Amino acid sequence: MPTTLCSRRRFLASASALASAIVLQRYGLSQDRSVSSPARVKKDLFVHPGEPLNAEPELENLVASRITPLQHFYVRNHGPIPQLTADQVRLTVDGMVHKKLDLGVEELQGKHKQHTVEATLTCAGNRREEMARLKPVAGVQWQEGAIGNGQWKGIALADVLKQADVRDGAKHVWFEGLDPIKEKDGSVAPFGGSIPMEKALAMRDDALCLIAFQMNGQPLLPEHGFPMRTVIPGYIGARSVKWLSKITVSDRPSPNHYLADAYKLIQTTEEAKQRDPIYQFAINSAICTVEDGETLKAGKTTIAGYALPTGAPGCTIESVEVSLDGGKSWQAAKLEGGDKSAMPFTWSLWTADVELMPGKHQLVVRATDSKGNKQPEKGPWNLKGYLFNGWHRVNVDVA
Ligand code: MTE
Repeated sequence: MPTTLCSRRRFLASASALASAIVLQRYGLSQDRSVSSPARVKKDLFVHPGEPLNAEPELENLVASRITPLQHFYVRNHGPIPQLTADQVRLTVDGMVHKKLDLGVEELQGKHKQHTVEATLTCAGNRREEMARLKPVAGVQWQEGAIGNGQWKGIALADVLKQADVRDGAKHVWFEGLDPIKEKDGSVAPFGGSIPMEKALAMRDDALCLIAFQMNGQPLLPEHGFPMRTVIPGYIGARSVKWLSKITVSDRPSPNHYLADAYKLIQTTEEAKQRDPIYQFAINSAICTVEDGETLKAGKTTIAGYALPTGAPGCTIESVEVSLDGGKSWQAAKLEGGDKSAMPFTWSLWTADVELMPGKHQLVVRATDSKGNKQPEKGPWNLKGYLFNGWHRVNVDVA
């Protein structure tokens, strides 16, 4: 008798485990933990010194494919990475709504249509190390790898807002994550931010803001926000809040530090309160297959890299040019997949066949987008080191 009871209990336990495994699998919520941890990040990426964990890929790996594989996707954190299971997390929606929501991950996915959106995520601090050569800038000294192009699957933020029935006069949508971030003054608060309502409600397929559960066909890894995050195409990475747990609809922007104070283009700390937050990312490009100081063989070779249009709706990369003489003369680079591959909110990869003569050379790249935005030659300096997009220069010796 005890044996039967025991085996029935075991059967029930394993049946319920199996049922929940099937549900988790159906919704992409189960996770292979062996590939997801700070140890994984440290193995695959170049880790910046200090805490929290921030890491970027080798540039050559970064441009090996249009969709950035998970092991080559940069990781940017302001605090510790929460290790969560899907059933530990709920999403609440409150503020200026007629119906407050409190939904589990599975409920959210069951209720709304799933969409897949390709979008480039880039940290506003990408290329800060180059800006710091103009004048020192504090913060993670990102090289050119704080960028990646993902295929994100999830539900439309607009559908969840519709479910909550937004009240008239609402203008901003706030997000909050679950990572406890220790500030300089010793206080602890979650990472957060907000986006304008107009952006949140965009319904064009290529412009959908997502509550994403998957990245490149796999459940989000813990370091990328498991079990859910926002993905806001065209906006700096800081607006794509990981470990999402709270949405508040409001008539004003979020008071969260990462929207109200940080991520602004300022020259002095005092300016921060008057400046608007950064939302859209800026046009940019980089050479990724040649390193500064490298010795190359004379003759024909191909160089490659990425180019990102401004994050405005409908804006795509129009042309990429490279120079072998520090920017005196230019030749056109080829966009991978031709002009048709250029999509709003995503990077374009490019290659250029060049002929190198012996001697010292400076290779340079610059991009132009479909709204006529061009990278500036030098790139303006700002106190926090954001949106650096001066022409990318690589010095080489050709033997
Ligand atoms: N969300 C939370 N909760 N905490 C964070 O520290 N960092 C932001 C954003 N979302 C962050 C966050 C920043 S600055 C960037 S650039 C992107 O996440 C990086 O996303 P990734 O680590 O998945 O590449």
